[in-house]
Amino acid sequence: MEPNPDAASSDAASSDVERSEAVLSEAELSAAAGARPRVFSGVQPSGDLHLGTYLGALRQWALHQDERDNIFCVVDLHALTVPEDVDPRTLRAKSREVAALYLASGIDPETNIVFVQSHVREHTELTWLLNCTTPLGWLYRMTQFKSKSEGRESVSTGLLDYPVLQAADILLYDTDVVPVGEDQVQHVELTRDIAQRFNHLFGEVFRLPKAVVPKSGARVMGFDDPEVKMSKSYARVRDRHAVHLLDDDARIKKTVMSAVTDSGRELRFEHAGPGVRNLLGILQSLTDEPMDAVQARFEGKGYGDLKKAVLEAILETLRPIRARYREYAADPAELDAVLARGADRAREQAARTVARARSALGVGT
Ligand code: TRP
Repeated sequence: MEPNPDAASSDAASSDVERSEAVLSEAELSAAAGARPRVFSGVQPSGDLHLGTYLGALRQWALHQDERDNIFCVVDLHALTVPEDVDPRTLRAKSREVAALYLASGIDPETNIVFVQSHVREHTELTWLLNCTTPLGWLYRMTQFKSKSEGRESVSTGLLDYPVLQAADILLYDTDVVPVGEDQVQHVELTRDIAQRFNHLFGEVFRLPKAVVPKSGARVMGFDDPEVKMSKSYARVRDRHAVHLLDDDARIKKTVMSAVTDSGRELRFEHAGPGVRNLLGILQSLTDEPMDAVQARFEGKGYGDLKKAVLEAILETLRPIRARYREYAADPAELDAVLARGADRAREQAARTVARARSALGVGT
């Protein structure tokens, strides 16, 4: 099975994404909700979580948690691929912070499985087994590998192998659906290719997953530069790029009020540039109002009014999340217990899949 060459070379423009057989539309997913699809997703504990991750991931996960059989993972092993950037104490703290933010966003650790990737060793074990059936060429083709390795003098084997670890994450749990941003669709396609090749060579061991890319909140752009997607790496070097979930009110205010808008004085939606559209999109997403209602409300108003409304909506959303986060942060033993239980539940399933793969390959007892 060769991976789809178009998907491998494109930047996953949305039209390609919709055409790919690896992608399920949100409508198809809702239609299948009666069957409680198995969902796996994860966020890397590198840097601070921002509004983009909240709107594109955490909030969506929490919103649909009752219809799906969910596993939400803090993928700390994925944060090791650039060793120069790894500070062990920070990484450990960030993994717990991200887990606490999952819970603070309303994800219920009883009905969903919430855990830290490295607590379940099957992830690393399956990665090796999959490495041996993954052609190297498939990994060199990954857009993310190309952009992350560009200009670096030395690149770790882990950076190249990153998508195989991600494939292991997904395949370990017989996942049906992987909610991800557009930039990760290529990794889900690769996961399918890896699974298919393994199944073809050694028998039906893995279920083929599909990606689902949320429409609303999927693309939150930088406040300082609405041409680029809000990202942790930009946020690290640019002060006014992102609102982080744990920022205080004053800082959020500074970021939002300094957001790039258009050169005119008042808002004409017809002529709105990317900065204004980003603010409207964020507001729409936070308030769940229809877009035309949001547009109508601000048509002809000054940009300051729009920014103030966005600021209010952000503060209102983040305040309770921060408060719940602080409760978890104040009780580390409770968070440990939640994560230990999540890892136990995850391990039980992961171990079954690894046993199938080992047996198919003729290794193990
Ligand atoms: N690579 C994903 C990202 O950068 C994170 C991730 C790792 C992931 N394993 C996963 C996402 C499994 C979905 C499923 O966003």
